[in-house]
Amino acid sequence: MRRLLVAGNWKMHGTRQSVDSLLEGLNQQDWPDNVDLMVAPPALYIQHCLERLAGSPLYVGGQSCAYQAEPGALTGEISAAQLRDVGCEFVLVGHSERRSLFGETDEVVRKKFAAALACGLRPVLCVGETLEQRDAGQTAEVVGTQLKVILDAFGVGGLAQGVVAYEPVWAIGTGLTAEPDQAQDVHAMIRARLAMLDDEQAQLVQIVYGGSVKADNAEALFAMPDIDGGLVGGASLNADEFGAIARAAGRV
Ligand code: 13P
Repeated sequence: MRRLLVAGNWKMHGTRQSVDSLLEGLNQQDWPDNVDLMVAPPALYIQHCLERLAGSPLYVGGQSCAYQAEPGALTGEISAAQLRDVGCEFVLVGHSERRSLFGETDEVVRKKFAAALACGLRPVLCVGETLEQRDAGQTAEVVGTQLKVILDAFGVGGLAQGVVAYEPVWAIGTGLTAEPDQAQDVHAMIRARLAMLDDEQAQLVQIVYGGSVKADNAEALFAMPDIDGGLVGGASLNADEFGAIARAAGRV
């Protein structure tokens, strides 16, 4: 059976003080031992989080990485190799905010995915449609294209070394959550696409849901057969809420 993953994306939130109190709260949680757990802090605080979370079951991940793994003249960027060097286990690639606000194309996302794999990081490939695209009936096509770029390059086996995060753009930070059935439909579609290429590997790929996951909707989402956990934004900034979401994953 696939293990569930509950990951927190802190986005560009936090100060030294608030990060410290969040870490203190996280260190007081009763974590389930049957769930993979990860937080992705702003890069500046990664090292501090790694130190403070040592001995806890939480992995630490980056929110993005450079499109090239090798050192180079890329001012402002952080490489997958550097994330790995300090002790990260995961990195998000292709988050919708990176795609829409920073112009990340599928080709850039493919390079970042490659850099992460080359450095031994587990890339969390974020995919998802906008409300306009959903209303136009284009969800399968949009998500299919975002996946295809990665599948063409790395196959299902390559994807299985990472994680897929289905994050409908209309549900991110809006308080609008996809209904469990609605999310399950897309997760099942994603798995079916993978299964057409390699059924055995497709059953191993963790596909997590992101978009306004909270303690009170997590269990219903995670109970769906193809929803293997969550990528949590806002609610991951509250240790008790994030702990409750992780424990919900532990119960399903
Ligand atoms: P929210 O949980 O705040 O909607 O954010 C989801 C997200 O973008 C996680 O990567």
